Amino acid sequence: MTGPTALFITGTDTGCGKTIVTATLARALASRGYDVGVCKPYASGIALEAPEETSDIVFLQKAAGLREPIDLVCPARFSLPLAPAQAEPLENIRYTPGEICQRVQEYVKLHEITLVEGIGGAAVPLTHNYLVSDFIKDLGLPVLVVARSALGTINHTILTVEHLRNKGLSVLGVIFNRVTGGELSEAEKGGPPLAATLAGVPFLGVVPFVGEEKVDSLPAVQQLSITCEAIVNTLRLLGTLR
Ligand SMILES: Nc1ncnc2c1ncn2[C@@H]1O[C@H](COP(=O)(O)OP(=O)(O)OP(=O)(O)O)[C@@H](O)[C@H]1O
Ligand SMILES: [Mg+2]
Repeated sequence: MTGPTALFITGTDTGCGKTIVTATLARALASRGYDVGVCKPYASGIALEAPEETSDIVFLQKAAGLREPIDLVCPARFSLPLAPAQAEPLENIRYTPGEICQRVQEYVKLHEITLVEGIGGAAVPLTHNYLVSDFIKDLGLPVLVVARSALGTINHTILTVEHLRNKGLSVLGVIFNRVTGGELSEAEKGGPPLAATLAGVPFLGVVPFVGEEKVDSLPAVQQLSITCEAIVNTLRLLGTLR
């Protein structure tokens, strides 16, 4: 394998498809024989002791064929669906980013390749003076950006990539995700490649919308990993196609 052994997946926003993309990549890597790890160090809106089956971390673990302890793969949890910096005082919980960072660095050693899902977008505050992008910098990982394929994407993509670069981070590329079905809107037709070009990062392709029903089911992810050119391009970029 020539690519990175760990990758941070951030997005242009919450709900843009980070989990769908990460889970699909995890399945694709596992099906190609890689020992793949998946974690989501910070999560909010989650049951603290036993996260729901539909939670990102349980979904990711299932996609990778793992059942690892929650404290290992999702150490910083908040029950309120808020940015960690907002949830901390309300829930009277305090996590030290340096400690969470160390835990991720330890976890990464357990697998051949690890996918680390962020929380919300790149500028979400983890504490009052520390953003997701600062966390990525401290982890020392390259970044994959997931963007929604929709009106507004060009703006969100450029802003996200600029923000990450201003922090000195290496952006591997942008993968776009359709969160609605039906015909492509005018905005979707040329928007994704234009967004990537203007942001100055590789355009990896568009993940199709896979159905109205809750996608948090493995068949939907299986379908994605088989048919999606965007995922194949991302695997190629990671140097993991063999
Ligand atoms: N390709 C897709 N096809 C169908 N539905 C999708 C697709 N991508 C996302 N969705 C829908 O949008 C929801 C949000 O997607 P996802 O959970 O992957 O976003 P996220 O960026 O991980 O969000 P969060 O910020 O909460 O972690 C999914 O639960 C699903 O219902
Ligand atoms: Mg998610």
